[in-house]
Amino acid sequence: MKAGISVEVNGSAKSAAVEPRTLLVHFLRDDLGLTGTHVGCDTTNCGSCAVLLDGRPVKSCTVLAVQANGKKVTTIEGIGTPERLHPIQFAFWKKHGLQCGFCTPGMIISAYALLKKNANPDDAEIRRALSGNLCRCTGYSKIVESVKYAAKLQKKGKVEFSVGPRRHKKAESGEYSGESW
Ligand code: FES
Ligand code: FES
Repeated sequence: MKAGISVEVNGSAKSAAVEPRTLLVHFLRDDLGLTGTHVGCDTTNCGSCAVLLDGRPVKSCTVLAVQANGKKVTTIEGIGTPERLHPIQFAFWKKHGLQCGFCTPGMIISAYALLKKNANPDDAEIRRALSGNLCRCTGYSKIVESVKYAAKLQKKGKVEFSVGPRRHKKAESGEYSGESW
């Protein structure tokens, strides 16, 4: 028997009938088409499925869709878009914090949650906050560097960026920033 759920996803109200066993990640990907949330392991190990649930990072392969009923979910699609990158996304691009990109949505969600709590994390705090997110490509140093750079951008009040030709230079110089944080 299906259960009715209502969830606010990236600011939009969504209602659906789901099997009680449906995982949140499958609801997001299969029912809502939000495929930016990845499934790496399906066993709570890799963090590639991380989303924010009422502002807290969770592994959405470990949460049932019915547990999100009445709550707010933010996926990577709610953080930024290709045209209007969030500074964390811009920082990962600029500082080479990704290679294949599979882990990146989860990394960015975890980094986002960290920077909301701690605007100026040191290396150890960043590594601790991202310890539930595995990356097979980068060796993590560039990811840590990206998060530190994102913190710097956020401190300057930069909100969104585009990475079209030459625009990143404008972003760094302050000519290409969005509305205030
Ligand atoms: S897919 Fe959820 S932790 Fe790996
Ligand atoms: S960039 Fe490939 S897994 Fe992290």
